[in-house]
Amino acid sequence: MQIIMLGAPGTGKGTQGNLLSNYFGIPNISTGEILRSAVKQESPLGIKAKLYMDAGELVPDDVMIGIIRDRLREADCEKGFILDGFPRTVTQAEALDHLLSGEKIDIEHVIALEVAENALVMRLTSRRVCSVCGKDYNMLSDPPPGDMKCRMCGGEIIQRSDDNETTVTKRLAVYEEKTAPLKEYYERQSKLRHVIGAGSVEEVQDRIREILHTS
Ligand code: AP5
Repeated sequence: MQIIMLGAPGTGKGTQGNLLSNYFGIPNISTGEILRSAVKQESPLGIKAKLYMDAGELVPDDVMIGIIRDRLREADCEKGFILDGFPRTVTQAEALDHLLSGEKIDIEHVIALEVAENALVMRLTSRRVCSVCGKDYNMLSDPPPGDMKCRMCGGEIIQRSDDNETTVTKRLAVYEEKTAPLKEYYERQSKLRHVIGAGSVEEVQDRIREILHTS
């Protein structure tokens, strides 16, 4: 099972990808998480990536393609994988096709999550995350405890540095310009599966599973 989660920031790629990962027993590979971990470690990649991420811009294609090439070689990807946040440009999609064709692997499904833009801004600016374990909270749907200490690990709960309104607006514009054209790219390959991303997390997950089981 090889799945791509495609959608604008906040459509639920990570939330739904993680649930699918548990369901199918395959890894959810989030390029955003890989980059945030590099930022936290202050590695050369992290220092470079932070500049792009905080500006709401994409990290350059050659960097991202290198990261995915290395990650897909790891043993846990043998049974399949979910890509959350990659590809994000046509150049990345072409590189992925090239990479996988060399391994005789093909992407089976591209889940395109659709949510109205005003709901996305609300979801993202309301998101909070644990700075230690990464657990997701949301001021609207799942508020953090009053002392802002994580329920799972006691770590400090913070706002992602790219979840302020200005950067969110930029991220949405970058998505429209650079990532939305991938819908046509995967439509041409008959892999695109549209899913309405509004409703509860469970309702969206049920829709995705039904599509995966029937297409
Ligand atoms: P990344 O971390 O991938 O950010 P993103 O695409 O903007 O996605 P998000 O994590 O913000 O949203 P999501 O769609 O995963 O939604 P989520 O489930 O979290 O990338 C960050 C940055 O890294 C990029 O801007 C770029 O700079 C760089 N980058 C990463 N990959 C790159 C690449 N391939 N190339 C170049 N640069 C790259 O949900 C969001 C919120 O909504 C949560 O609070 C959640 O609880 C809530 N929520 C989810 N589902 C629902 C629901 N059904 N109802 C109500 N609330 C919900």
